Amino acid sequence: MHNVKTIINDVYYVGVNDRRITLFENTHPVERGMAYNSYVILDEKTVLLDTVDKADGQQFMENVIHALRGRDLDYLVINHMEPDHCGSIVDIMRRYPNVVLVGNSTTFRLLDQFYDIGLQGRKIDVKENDTLNIGKRTLRFFMAPMVHWPEVMVTFEESEGLLFSADAFGTFGALEGNLFADQINFAELLLDEARRYYSNIIGKYGAQTLSLLNKLEKLNIRFLLPLHGPLWRENISWYVDKYRRWASYTPEEKGVVIAFASIYGNTEEVIDILAGYLADLGVNNIRIHDVSSTDPSYILSDVFRYSGLIIASSTYNFKIFPRMETFLSDLVSSNMQKRSFAVIENGSWAPNVDSLVRPALAKLNNNSIINVEKFTVKSSLKTFQLDALRKLAQAIANTIIE
Ligand code: FEO
Repeated sequence: MHNVKTIINDVYYVGVNDRRITLFENTHPVERGMAYNSYVILDEKTVLLDTVDKADGQQFMENVIHALRGRDLDYLVINHMEPDHCGSIVDIMRRYPNVVLVGNSTTFRLLDQFYDIGLQGRKIDVKENDTLNIGKRTLRFFMAPMVHWPEVMVTFEESEGLLFSADAFGTFGALEGNLFADQINFAELLLDEARRYYSNIIGKYGAQTLSLLNKLEKLNIRFLLPLHGPLWRENISWYVDKYRRWASYTPEEKGVVIAFASIYGNTEEVIDILAGYLADLGVNNIRIHDVSSTDPSYILSDVFRYSGLIIASSTYNFKIFPRMETFLSDLVSSNMQKRSFAVIENGSWAPNVDSLVRPALAKLNNNSIINVEKFTVKSSLKTFQLDALRKLAQAIANTIIE
């Protein structure tokens, strides 16, 4: 059964929900599933903008057929070639053999890599600022390379101000009936998932995202239509501002994330005492994550939110505790900037986390390390170290409380 929704006259939502998926990209937990958004425009020509993951291809095809009301499909605009969006292109081409694909040269190179299909006479290769007239409406294309893949572009429908924004402005989580962000309490229900989505999917490409945001400033966007999550027709500037903060690595709030790795609880004891000192000093935003039980995507998302990060880790076979190493790798990949870091190491016979973590953090630009001196715990915290821990708490609090 189709599940098509009207956005405005002759513009339809034909996307699908996937609540069976547990790991997006087989990596990031998505307890609330995913929405793969797709859109149909009916004009003198008919247009489909992006497809969906093949896992939900049947529902998607029913939606497209219903939205087209018996008409043929003239154009398929491919804003992004990651398989969560390109997964049903081949089925669309089989169902609509006259369809012409609209993309850029990188789109078609990736299409060739993923699928063995002939595109002779069936493609329009667009470049920056090219337009496609479809009747009363005109579509304009802007390239958005590396937001999130190199071929990404966004499509702007000029008469109604519809921006089909690809992965940008997406969220984790299936849609729950309401299509638009203004119909739900987005800040309460989905902002955390939007931030986690940005941090882990696009976060590495802040400069490229800023470049896209600068292009969008010149457009009169009335509808923001991403490939995941709710659609936007109100408060667009609020959400764009969030994106500008994330893309420029500007913390949303002063606060500290404590990511710890503790094998037998001794490192956890240290960070609990430290967190208590921070609270005593008036630090309100303290988020503690055990890397052994919290997926790194959530920790990274909190690092995008807050201004400080404390890494407290056990040593493990002369190395950083493996799950902390995974988180650190994600942190370095994100190109994080403008943060204050502190490091605490623990080890019973060869504590050396500090000497491994600092070079990793040094790969990141425009950050500061709060503790110049190592803070080393040998097996467990000792009374004589409490003064030093209080001083560390004070130095951290100094970066937070103005
Ligand atoms: Fe939603 Fe980069 O794919």
